[in-house]
Amino acid sequence: MIVAPSVLSADFGNLNKDLEMLNKSEAEWLHIDIMDGVFVPNISFGFPVLKTIREKSTQFLDVHLMIVQPEKYISEFIQNGAQMLTIHFETCTHLHRTIFQIKNDGAKAGIALNPHTSVDLLEDIISDLDLVLIMSVNPGFGGQKFIENTYSKVEKLKNLILKKNSKALIEIDGGVSLQNALLLKNAGADVLVAGNAVFSSENPSEYIKLMANV
Ligand code: DX5
Ligand code: ZN
Repeated sequence: MIVAPSVLSADFGNLNKDLEMLNKSEAEWLHIDIMDGVFVPNISFGFPVLKTIREKSTQFLDVHLMIVQPEKYISEFIQNGAQMLTIHFETCTHLHRTIFQIKNDGAKAGIALNPHTSVDLLEDIISDLDLVLIMSVNPGFGGQKFIENTYSKVEKLKNLILKKNSKALIEIDGGVSLQNALLLKNAGADVLVAGNAVFSSENPSEYIKLMANV
């Protein structure tokens, strides 16, 4: 299981310390939430913070864009270190064009779905994707309660991926912890994002290890 700790829950006053801990942990990816205060009711951080993380982190940088008009900023996010760039289905009219914009700029491309958005809507684009991110909370904040409907959504998405012979990974984001990790794995998840669960635990790197080996 790939674990992607979410930097949103890190200690920004001591970011260096948390990044060093993560570098030594079993986390293969780092999840970076970009929020614009328009698509979601919260603002997180932007390019300078991403660039700093890129300079200090040895992990694969998985950037989750919760912003309107993501097509405007694709190159800039990739230049600042994004290796996976995930845009929200709900923000993008020309999804196919934007996915290929990301790929042509040299990053991997993903689509994120809000809890109310059906995986069936991905039928005509799933073959072009490197990742589908299923939101298991409403995007905007860390530390929210996991939505139980996620399991059936993951199973449905897994079936679609197999049917279409897609190589897309399934990532789950929001309220993920050791309490639901195994059920998510059994449903078909490949990548687990965890913010609050990791950073509020007594031993974050041990928590990551347990999650990676679930
Ligand atoms: C929520 C973000 C998540 C968040 C997850 O909008 O997309 O990545 O950091 O945090 P937890 O694991 O605390 O729910
Ligand atoms: Zn996220």
